[in-house]
Amino acid sequence: MIVLGIETSCDETAAAVVADDRRILSTVVLSQLDDHRPYGGVVPEIAARAHLAHLGGLIRTALDDAGVAFEALDGVAATGGPGLIGGVMVGVMTAKAIAAVHDLPFLAVNHLEGHALTARLTDDLPFPYLLLLVSGGHCQLLVVEGVGAYRRLGTTIDDAVGEAFDKAAKLLGLGYPGGPEIERAAATGDPDRFALPRPLAGRPGCDFSFSGLKTALRRHVDGLPAGPLRRRDVDDLAAAFQAAVGDCLVDRTGNAIAQFLADGGSGHALVVAGGVAANQALRGRLADLAADSGLSFVAPPAPLCTDNAAMIAWAGLERLRLGQSDGLEFAPRPRWPLDPDAAPATGAGVKA
Ligand code: KG4
Ligand code: ZN
Repeated sequence: MIVLGIETSCDETAAAVVADDRRILSTVVLSQLDDHRPYGGVVPEIAARAHLAHLGGLIRTALDDAGVAFEALDGVAATGGPGLIGGVMVGVMTAKAIAAVHDLPFLAVNHLEGHALTARLTDDLPFPYLLLLVSGGHCQLLVVEGVGAYRRLGTTIDDAVGEAFDKAAKLLGLGYPGGPEIERAAATGDPDRFALPRPLAGRPGCDFSFSGLKTALRRHVDGLPAGPLRRRDVDDLAAAFQAAVGDCLVDRTGNAIAQFLADGGSGHALVVAGGVAANQALRGRLADLAADSGLSFVAPPAPLCTDNAAMIAWAGLERLRLGQSDGLEFAPRPRWPLDPDAAPATGAGVKA
């Protein structure tokens, strides 16, 4: 089986063709970074218009690269949410049109499920596994029990971890997106020169909090001599920030591993996915944690961690193999939790 995947939920326009024997026949990603950079973040209206302008051409390229025609497809999958609604509508409407014209099943894929199932595309991983999902919009620990079956162990009570990286980068005068910039600066910085807190570390449970970290970083920046930040200060602050985030991720994921293993299931892998999983330093910390706990560690290659359409095509394939598809009446979903039964996050600073 072969499925075309479409991703338009944020600031990447992407199309890919994937086969159910786990071959990525093509994957193209067009970043809109240059369109959004002047604003220091993603502008939803600009994103939607850019998706509209480029998606058709990208789908053509993905099919050509894969050497397949529409007739060779077994389904069309598009991100149906969560995400910026204008962009999601562009992808969903395009996929529905292709499905209707070529009489193909349409699959509305949860973007988070795309990230969550990528480890099965790259590593053929069996269920269940423990997933740390770290992206620009999310920071969650989930037990992945099957396609469409997720149990959330913890989530952020304020900022997502990628969002924290982006805000920290802005404070340090680094570019957008902040994650890769912080990682680069941190590589030569001293993580011990500036003291930062480890919010929630040492406390029971698997929830995360990052807003206090950002505030503490701002205090250090404000305490430095006026004028532009020196390169050395930026590097040291970036290193301190990344080390603090790493400690928080390790602490909270450690608790989740204990819970996962105590459940006595057959799972034996820790997976990290989402854009922040592209960070090599954090991957190293999590790999060590997994090894210490007797779990194998799976982190998809960086281009499959950040937003892409291969993960959407794959999640679509997983559902198609189970006989699932969606009707053309599907409405894009700005919010779409993987575990709808999870209790809402609680604690000081919880975002509405
Ligand atoms: O999964 P993703 O591409 O989009 C969302 O679904 O959110 O994640 C984007 C986020 C951004 O916040 C970006 O700063 C972060 O992932 N990111 C990183 C790195 N590369 C991307 N964070 C830390 N280190 C990186 N190397
Ligand atoms: Zn994402």
